[in-house]
Amino acid sequence: MKTQRAPINNNPKSMRVFFILGRNPKLSREEILAYMRARNREHKEILFEENLFILETNEGEKFDIQEFGGVLKLGQILCEGEEKELREFMKNNELVPADKFTYGIFGNLDSEILKEKFRKEKKKAILKHGRQRMMMQEGKKLELPNADFYLFFHAVKDKIYFGLATQDYDYHKIKERDMNKPVRREQLAISPRLSKILINLSEAKPRDLLLDPFCGIGGILQEALIKGINVYGIDKDKQATIDAEKNLDWIKEKYAIKNNFKIENLDSRKAPDLQFVAIATETPLGRILRKKPNNNEAKQIIQNFEAYIIPILSKLKNVKKSKAKIAITFPVVNNLHVDTPKIAQKTGLEVVMKPILESREDQFISRDIIVFQ
Ligand SMILES: C[S@@+](CC[C@H](N)C(=O)[O-])C[C@H]1O[C@@H](n2cnc3c(N)ncnc32)[C@H](O)[C@@H]1O
Repeated sequence: MKTQRAPINNNPKSMRVFFILGRNPKLSREEILAYMRARNREHKEILFEENLFILETNEGEKFDIQEFGGVLKLGQILCEGEEKELREFMKNNELVPADKFTYGIFGNLDSEILKEKFRKEKKKAILKHGRQRMMMQEGKKLELPNADFYLFFHAVKDKIYFGLATQDYDYHKIKERDMNKPVRREQLAISPRLSKILINLSEAKPRDLLLDPFCGIGGILQEALIKGINVYGIDKDKQATIDAEKNLDWIKEKYAIKNNFKIENLDSRKAPDLQFVAIATETPLGRILRKKPNNNEAKQIIQNFEAYIIPILSKLKNVKKSKAKIAITFPVVNNLHVDTPKIAQKTGLEVVMKPILESREDQFISRDIIVFQ
C-alpha cells in the first residue's frame, strides 16, 4: 500500500509543506519567506506555532533543506482535516514504508492513534522521545528524537495535520566543511547556519552578485558559493583576505563550483560600485569581552558602533541595486540595542525586517539581525 496524499482545501494545484524550525523559529520563518519571495515562488503561510511552520505552495514545487540554515526537517503534509478524515486516510494509506522502524513525532498530538494503526498492521514500530535536547533561543528545550522516520502530527482546533518528513538537515557535512577548511579563526567566524540564514534574508539567488563588506575569512561567502551565488568580499585586514582566498579556493575545488569569487583588501567605506544584487554580512561586534560589561560600557559600545556603521551603510546604499537587500547583524550588549530606526533615517535605508534577536546564553554580546533595503 502506498501513501496517497489527501486533497487539501479542495485545491489539487496546491500542496502544503511543513518545516521543523531550529533554535530561532522567528528568524527561520523569515528565512523561508525571504527564500520564496526571492524566487517569485507563490506561497501562503498556513501555520506558525513554536518551531512548526506550514507553507502552501504550488503542487510539485521542490525544496532542498540544505539551502536553509534554520530548518531541521521538512516534508509534505499528506492529510489535513478532522479526526474522522484522518482515520479514513490512515485506513487507506501505509504512512511509513517499513515493517520495523523507530519514529519520532513533531507536533502536539497524542501517538495513540498511530500506535493503534501500526499494531493492526503488525508493524514493529517504536516511538522515540527526544534524548538529544536542543536549546531554543527563548530558553525552552526542544526534543530531538533520533529515529528512522519523523512524523508531523499536530492539531489546531479541530484540524489535524499529518505529514512525513522526507529531508533532514545535514549537520555532518556542514560541520565537516567548517572544521576542515584551510584557515579557521574562531573569533572571526560566523556559523554556517547563520551564514545561510543571512544569505537567504538578503534574497540572493544563484548567479546573483553578493557582497560581504566585512568578509573576514569568508564564512558567508563560502556558503553563498555553494548555493551557486557569485560573491565579492571586502575586508580591511590583509591577512583575513589572504585566508578568505585560501578558504574559497578550497571550497571551489571541493564542491567543483563554477561560479566566481573576488576578494579585496579594502575598507568597506571604499566598496566599489558594482550595483550588487544582495549584501549579507556580519559586522564586527566590538572587541572580545572577557567579562560582562557594566551598563556604561555597554552604552559606549553601542554608541561607538552606531557612529562607525552609519558611514559604511550610507556607502553600501550607493553600491547596490535600489531594491537589493542588506542582511546584517548589529551588536546587542546587556539588553541594549542599536537604534535601528535612527540608522535607517541617517542612511536613507528602509528597514524591511525589524531586528530579530539572535542570542546565546554563553556570550556577553548577542546580535540583532536586520534587513534593510
Ligand atoms: C566579524 S568579522 C566577519 C566574519 C566573517 N563573516 C567570517 O565568517 O569570517 C568582521 C571583519 O570585519 C573586518 N572589518 C572591520 N571594519 C572594517 C571596515 N571598515 N572595512 C572592511 N572590513 C572591516 C574585520 O577585519 C573582520 O575581519
